[in-house]
Amino acid sequence: MTETAQPDRAGVLLTCAPEAQGLLRLELADAWPGLTAPQWLADGLALVRLPGGFEAFAAEVGRAAPIFLRHLAPVQTEQAVTPSRGVMGAMKRGLELLEDMAPADAVLGVQVRRVVASGDAARVERMTALEREFAPTAAEVTRCRIDTAHPERIVSTLIVGDRLLMGISDVAANLSAWPGGERRFLELDDQISRAEFKLLEALEAFGVEMPASGVALDMGAAPGGWTRVLLEKGLSVVAVDPAKLHPSLVRHERVTHVRARIEDRLSGAAPVDVIVNDMRIDPRASTAIMLQAASLLPCGGPAVMTLKLPEGGVTDRALLATVRASLARLRGAYHVIGARRLFHNRSEVTVALQAKSTGG
Ligand SMILES: C[S@@+](CC[C@H](N)C(=O)[O-])C[C@H]1O[C@@H](n2cnc3c(N)ncnc32)[C@H](O)[C@@H]1O
Repeated sequence: MTETAQPDRAGVLLTCAPEAQGLLRLELADAWPGLTAPQWLADGLALVRLPGGFEAFAAEVGRAAPIFLRHLAPVQTEQAVTPSRGVMGAMKRGLELLEDMAPADAVLGVQVRRVVASGDAARVERMTALEREFAPTAAEVTRCRIDTAHPERIVSTLIVGDRLLMGISDVAANLSAWPGGERRFLELDDQISRAEFKLLEALEAFGVEMPASGVALDMGAAPGGWTRVLLEKGLSVVAVDPAKLHPSLVRHERVTHVRARIEDRLSGAAPVDVIVNDMRIDPRASTAIMLQAASLLPCGGPAVMTLKLPEGGVTDRALLATVRASLARLRGAYHVIGARRLFHNRSEVTVALQAKSTGG
């Protein structure tokens, strides 16, 4: 185990949902045919050796925009965790070697994760106590202000057995400021469904700007988690769903519940300012509905949708093709701002859009 930083053997830690490993592998092979095969260190966490540096790879990720990649973090040094120096000693040594990558005026976050064996598999856990314990040492070594909640650059550390992998990068290069892309939200007492987190995460991840007032069309609204988020943003909501809404929304003055299938209500519908769609239907059908609905939005009007992935008997290649085909069709009426399987997505991909048309 070397004691130096290894820019010539740079690596990257890639995270995805454990069920999406096959899909991410395909996307990597499509975008980077020469890349070495990912080494899966735990469910949904792979190490890939890079021919060049992390920054160049992160820039290519920005261009290729893989759908099933949740988070990436650089590996620029590997340290042995020996009984004599322990994890803290290995972290300090690693950071000393990378000190140049943390300019003194940067606000630095410290993220520490650990691979934990569980039966035949392995999972990753965040070590918040170690992050806090290491913060004063990180400040001393780098002379940076440490703020793990609001960082500009992040020291990413992964402990795998007696190895410690470390790297420093701009937060934007990691795709998410959260370790492994695991975006956590506080549960609220008046929350209607966990689906709310999906919309909140999408707005944040894709930088969607909602108008401060106006009307949102919520397709597949029940029980009403997304509707609640839209109300919180100041919008009125036309909630279309044959199913019942949560009692707290039934008589809400800014909610109109249209208890029907959206297909039966689109023609002649009034213009809206925002469209969201979380309908549990075939992705092709959902895409067709979004294309029809685009003319209800002003030019640049935001839309967020989930594309539900077909389940059972579908190869990863076919599934990826289905998602890509939907995105290609959506481009006929929208700018695709982003399409990713985010942390709160289950068997689905979230897509952020902006209407091209000047309809309405
Ligand atoms: C995943 S749930 C939506 C959850 C919702 N976003 C929330 O935050 O509570 C999917 C919904 O899509 C609705 N749905 C399915 N097909 C529909 C259609 N053709 N038109 C309108 N709603 C539909 C279902 O009734 C179901 O309530």
